[in-house]
Amino acid sequence: MNRGIRRREFLRHGALAAGAMACGAYLPHAALGTSSADSRIDVLLDEPLGTISPNLYGHFTEHLGGVIYDGLWVGENSPVANLQGIRKRLVEEMRKIKAPVVRYPGGCFADSYDWRDGVGPADKRPRRTNFWNDADTKTAPENHKYESNRFGTNEFMRFCRLIGAEPYLAANLRSLPAEEFYLWVEYCNSPAGSTALAEMRAAAGSPEPFNVRFWGVGNESWGCGGNFTPQEYAVEFRRFTTWLPHYGPDLSLVASGPYSEESSWTRGFFEELLRKGADQLRSVYGLSLHHYAWNLSRGRTTDWDKGKGSALEFDPVDWYELLREGQRVEDIVEGHWRTMGEFDEQHRVKLIVDEWGPWYRPGSEATPGNLLEQIPTLRDAVYSAMTLDVFNRHPEKVAMANCAQLINCLNSLYLAHEEKFCVTPVGHVFAMYAAHQGGQGLRTVISAPAVRYDRDGKPATFWGLQGSASLRGKEVALTVVNPHVSEARETRIALRGGRVSSASLTTLTSTDIQAHNTFAEPAALEPQTKKLDMSGEELAVVLPAASVNKLVLALG
Ligand code: AHR
Repeated sequence: MNRGIRRREFLRHGALAAGAMACGAYLPHAALGTSSADSRIDVLLDEPLGTISPNLYGHFTEHLGGVIYDGLWVGENSPVANLQGIRKRLVEEMRKIKAPVVRYPGGCFADSYDWRDGVGPADKRPRRTNFWNDADTKTAPENHKYESNRFGTNEFMRFCRLIGAEPYLAANLRSLPAEEFYLWVEYCNSPAGSTALAEMRAAAGSPEPFNVRFWGVGNESWGCGGNFTPQEYAVEFRRFTTWLPHYGPDLSLVASGPYSEESSWTRGFFEELLRKGADQLRSVYGLSLHHYAWNLSRGRTTDWDKGKGSALEFDPVDWYELLREGQRVEDIVEGHWRTMGEFDEQHRVKLIVDEWGPWYRPGSEATPGNLLEQIPTLRDAVYSAMTLDVFNRHPEKVAMANCAQLINCLNSLYLAHEEKFCVTPVGHVFAMYAAHQGGQGLRTVISAPAVRYDRDGKPATFWGLQGSASLRGKEVALTVVNPHVSEARETRIALRGGRVSSASLTTLTSTDIQAHNTFAEPAALEPQTKKLDMSGEELAVVLPAASVNKLVLALG
């Protein structure tokens, strides 16, 4: 399908004209009789779900393609505006979205990485073959294939400090001994002047410890991280975590967990871990979980390459296909949580969804040669918003999530090349959803007509509206996704147990479902905010087709 397909080309149900509802219009309360609203949202102020950890809004940066070099790191002597070598615009944008935590250095890269290569004098650091060397495209620059190690632990900590985020380091469990894990902890966390590694850190300009709390013990240990069985991995996990030096913060250790629904990994890991006794649970803060939406073949294949779709060229059925793949994450979270409960009744161990997002076939790179780079569209914004809503709805289960990956990669918030930079629709969603960080999740009941469409000759449905709500002080943030490519939803919003004194509505939408930002047109798709002239216990708004919406409701 050609770029620029319009929703109106897909009108199947006599829907409202898309253009009329292009920007989060609202209906004055009096103008909306009960009969005209087709949808309803009840926010239950008296039914808290738990605190929404800011860390659900975390990020992921790997030495892969253009993520680190050119994306994050431009170097101190670069003509690109930078703060000690780090792209200044990226820092500014990440401050705006209150980035809470960043995972590094991989991904698969982590399990072939020696942290020592990335510390010490920059000009003495060894040049190594990058894990992604074989996967790289022919047009990729040298630094995608051969790792200069110019960016390492100290530079990453600098980045985290600049943006005000916590670091989350992934240790190498496949190709380094356990000793190197605890020495990396020592390098990062031992007090100033206390150890030889603390002195090495000081020589690089950081006498004070980095106090890294979050540590991943391997990555995808069922695959690139060692090709282990869950039982083998559990043995390694015990060995790697039996002794670690503790200084400053308590370490929060994240075990390498399953891919998508793979419950046999979760069960196998816990069974083996606990063969040494129930107190083994104390060493696990979280179980990582990865879920990518990649198979858009509509059930035709499970082949990793053939199943993928295009990032930019898609029709409405492809749009729903991606959202269906994304929606699986809610069942996946609930399923693993149940399995974990078989071993951990108190649910001490939380889920860490440290890689998530859509994964398309190559072809839409903003910078040709950048491995795994794709240009996010409105479809990815809707996908990201509904995923964040899922995490918000399960704050007692999910303690952290990291979108894969921050810049110049899969579901990126930003695209950059040399002096060029743009915020993607996904970046705009993170800015909108920052309002939930640290809020009290509220149970929210949503009813809306289901989307009905034709999926290759068979009738198919998808939910009509979904979202999440949270309370912070005297303000409720309610985010809602309308996935319908052509129908707006006239929606009544009731605040159970409170009154709204003032309200605003921010909407990200377009009449073009393929809308996206580029270096040439960085503001093609941006959210619009308007104040709503209404108050009371009930509001009435129109949520446009194909939209992500945020209402901020002041209580009074
Ligand atoms: O995010 C890209 C890759 O996807 C990561 O390196 C790996 O962990 C996953 O398979």
